[in-house]
Amino acid sequence: MTKRIPLLILVVVTCGGTTMAETNIHQLPEPRLEGGKALIDVLQERRSIREYSTQPLTLQEVAQLLWSAQGITSREGFRTAPSAGALYPLVLHLVAGTVEGLASGNYRYDPHSHTLEMVVAGDLRPGLAHTALDQGWIQQASAAVVISAIFSRTTRKYGDRGVRYAHMEAGYAGQNLFLQAEAMGLATVVVGAFDDDALKALLHLPTDEQPLSILPIGYPRQAITD
Ligand SMILES: Cc1cc2nc3c(=O)[nH]c(=O)nc-3n(C[C@H](O)[C@H](O)[C@H](O)COP(=O)(O)O)c2cc1C
Repeated sequence: MTKRIPLLILVVVTCGGTTMAETNIHQLPEPRLEGGKALIDVLQERRSIREYSTQPLTLQEVAQLLWSAQGITSREGFRTAPSAGALYPLVLHLVAGTVEGLASGNYRYDPHSHTLEMVVAGDLRPGLAHTALDQGWIQQASAAVVISAIFSRTTRKYGDRGVRYAHMEAGYAGQNLFLQAEAMGLATVVVGAFDDDALKALLHLPTDEQPLSILPIGYPRQAITD
């Protein structure tokens, strides 16, 4: 026991009085649960947009977007998007470039605690564009959400068909996020063309996690008034 004391002191000094866990995990603001644009207008106006302004996203906006895709909306743990057997194979990552209050990096979203945990530090957007078969415009977006799946969560019950279910669920979660972005005046697009292995390596995804889609997000370029 006594041998552990110097280690504890070292952690406190190194982190300036806070624990490592506190510096890596960010509590997100609560999502807005009332009001907003009429769904019928959002459906009418939704369009893929690949040109973004330099205006950063706020933490509140990022929180709303992540919640829209996988937020928990009932005491039983059900979420904004449907899931086969309520087994929830999806994992969301936020690749933050310019997000107010958040250092650039890759973060994993935990829907239970509504938190982001940093996985990789640094601006990964140029690398993200490169892994997406050099679709260079991706790096102009303030951030991107990467939807991935841990297939075993679903195949454990449904066998190989569970892989299909996970892909379907990525579509539902992605469309939720797309419509939420549209309702907030933000711009996004689904990117399916990317090198799976390169993206996994860039984001430091665990081996059992498969990336399924990328949604770059920012303010649309035409919205700049200055
Ligand atoms: C599964 C899927 C993969 C896609 N992959 C890409 C992509 O890699 N790059 C891209 O620029 N757009 C991609 N798109 C967006 C489509 O090009 C776009 O949805 C289509 O042009 C229709 O335009 P709209 O979304 O504005 O209605 C993808 C869309 C889907 C559904």
